[in-house]
Amino acid sequence: MAADPLLTLDHASPIVTLQGHLLAKQASIPGATGTLSWILSALSISAKIIANKVRCARLQDVLGEAGADNVQGEQQQKLDVISNNVLLRLLGQREGVAIVASEENEEPVIIRDDPSGERRYCVLFDPLDGSSNLDVCGGVGTIFSILRHDRRAKDAPSSLLQPGREQVAAGYVLYGSSTVFVLTVGDGVDMFVLDPAVGAFMLVERGIRCPSANKSYSVNEGNRRTFPEGYQSYLDWAQERGYSSRYVGSMVADVHRILLKGGVFMYPPTKKAPDGKLRLMYEANPMAMLIEQAGGAALAAPGQRILDVQPTDIHQRVPVILGSRDEVANVAAQLG
Ligand code: AHG
Ligand code: MN
Ligand code: MN
Repeated sequence: MAADPLLTLDHASPIVTLQGHLLAKQASIPGATGTLSWILSALSISAKIIANKVRCARLQDVLGEAGADNVQGEQQQKLDVISNNVLLRLLGQREGVAIVASEENEEPVIIRDDPSGERRYCVLFDPLDGSSNLDVCGGVGTIFSILRHDRRAKDAPSSLLQPGREQVAAGYVLYGSSTVFVLTVGDGVDMFVLDPAVGAFMLVERGIRCPSANKSYSVNEGNRRTFPEGYQSYLDWAQERGYSSRYVGSMVADVHRILLKGGVFMYPPTKKAPDGKLRLMYEANPMAMLIEQAGGAALAAPGQRILDVQPTDIHQRVPVILGSRDEVANVAAQLG
C-alpha cells in the first residue's frame, strides 16, 4: 500500500484549496481588487450547501416536484428551488454582484444598480442541472457564468445580453460520487474536489486538457428520428467506426466525462425543441468556455462558435456540439 503523502514533508506538492488558489491568482494580477474572488467564494459556499442537501435529499424529504413550473414551462423540483435560493442569498450579499440571472427566474434579479465607481459583475446560473436524475441518485450539477456588468446598458437584460466570449469566468460543480468544482477564469481549467471532512475544495488538477479525440458520443438517441439529417448521418458514420455511446442526461455529468476523457456531446435541434433544449446563457456558454479553455471546441452549427452567438433573450436555447476538437470536427463535417 502506498504511504500516506502527509508522512513526508514534500514542498514540491503543496496543499492548495480553492480559496488559496483564488488568493494566489488575485495576488499575481496587478490592481486586482478581489471582487471576483469574493464572488467565486460565494459560489463555492453555495456548492457545499447544495452538495449537502443533494446527499441528504431522501432523508430530509426534499425530493420530488415543488408544485410549480419554471419560466421554461418545466416542472420545478424542490431541490431546484432550494439550490436557486441558496445561490441568490449568497450572491446577494456580495458587494461586487450587480445582477443575478437564473434559469429558474423569469426576470433577472437586480441586486445593485447604482452607478458607483466599483467594478461589478453579473452572475448567471443553472442552479441544479439534470434535476430529473435526483430521484435515482444520478449525478447533478450547478453551472455558472460571470460577465462584467455594463453600466451603460439601459436595463438589466441588455447588460446581460453579451456573447459568451465576454465571460470573465465560468464553471460547474458536479454532485457525483464526489463533489467536483471545475473553474476557468480565462487562463485554463482547474479542478477541485470537496474534502467533506475538512469542508474545503482541494486542488486536484491544474490546466486540464480535453483529449483531442475519443471514439465516444453523448446524445439522447431517442430523439434521433427528429434530428436534422446531418446528425443522423454522423451517428451512422460513428457507428460504422465502432464509436461508443455514453449519455447520463445530465449535462454537467456528460460534459465532465468528455472534459476528462474526450468524445463529443451534442444536443441537436429536435421536432419538440427546434433550437435544441439547452440554454445559451446558463448551460451552453459556460460549458463552451470551459471546453475551449481546455483545448476542445464548442459549436452551435458548423462554423458557428457557441461563444460568438449574440444573445437576444436571456432564456434562449441553442444547439450544442462540444468536446474533443477532432470529434467536433467529425460532426461538423457530416452537417456540411
Ligand atoms: P435542467 O435539469 O437544468 O432543466 O437541465 C436538463 C438538461 C441537461 O442537463 C441535459 O443535458 C438535458 O436536459 C437532457 O435532456 P433530455 O432528457 O431531453 O435528453
Ligand atoms: Mn440544466
Ligand atoms: Mn436546472
